[in-house]
Amino acid sequence: MALRYDTPSLMRWNARAYDSSFGYVSAQGTPLIELLDPQPGERILDLGCGTGVLTGEIAARGTTVLGLDGSAAMIEVAVAQHPGLEFMIGDGGNFHLHRPCDAVFSNAALHWMVRDPDAVIRCVRAALNPGGRFVAELGGAGNCAALTSAMLTAWREYGLREPELPWYFPSPAEYATRLEQAGFTVRLLEYFDRPTPLDECPDGAADWVRMFAGSLLDDVPPGTVEPLLRRVNELAAPALRRESGWVADYVRLRFAAVRA
Ligand code: BEZ
Repeated sequence: MALRYDTPSLMRWNARAYDSSFGYVSAQGTPLIELLDPQPGERILDLGCGTGVLTGEIAARGTTVLGLDGSAAMIEVAVAQHPGLEFMIGDGGNFHLHRPCDAVFSNAALHWMVRDPDAVIRCVRAALNPGGRFVAELGGAGNCAALTSAMLTAWREYGLREPELPWYFPSPAEYATRLEQAGFTVRLLEYFDRPTPLDECPDGAADWVRMFAGSLLDDVPPGTVEPLLRRVNELAAPALRRESGWVADYVRLRFAAVRA
């Protein structure tokens, strides 16, 4: 299987910390594999595969899987941890498979492909055989609202330029429309809250920002980063800090669509 290599991710990922402190991202993807229902012998693309944890689970069902991700750091770890599997660096909005596949799977990745969501859906459709499945989960409208509101307030209080948040969290209606306009039939669409304990993040919202919004900290003067993150924690705590620890306010959009 060949792939046109294109723009790598602008996000700098700490792939090892991603697995150790934010392993819930992959763990929560396991039910999505049930929805995918991979069959032995199928060819499947894992779009935005990260470190390949779910790629490995899909391969274990007897499928042939290609993992694609925009981050070289993620792919490096994926290759090291799953030596028998195929991984590629590539752009979700600009990729092409020479041989189409039976299903495209994507967990917690489509919301990073902000530049042109329709281009992503078009590439997925072109990668599928007729009748092929597109099964995915991403952040939905309102995802991480308390986290991002605390960030925007803290940035403003410190006199910093409002950061451009690097995520796309569509409403169910918006994403279903995009899928249908691109030639998919939507068979299932779910939109639900998923409060998620940040068990491995002792510094709570600040740890989350360091992992998922680290690129925004590049524009912050070095001496301001720590007080800014402390302020994010203060602002987010009333909504997200419980006696048991921090809980992120995730909202999910999960769908299964078929190439018409
Ligand atoms: C998410 O999985 O919903 C997500 C993770 C990090 C940043 C933004 C969204």
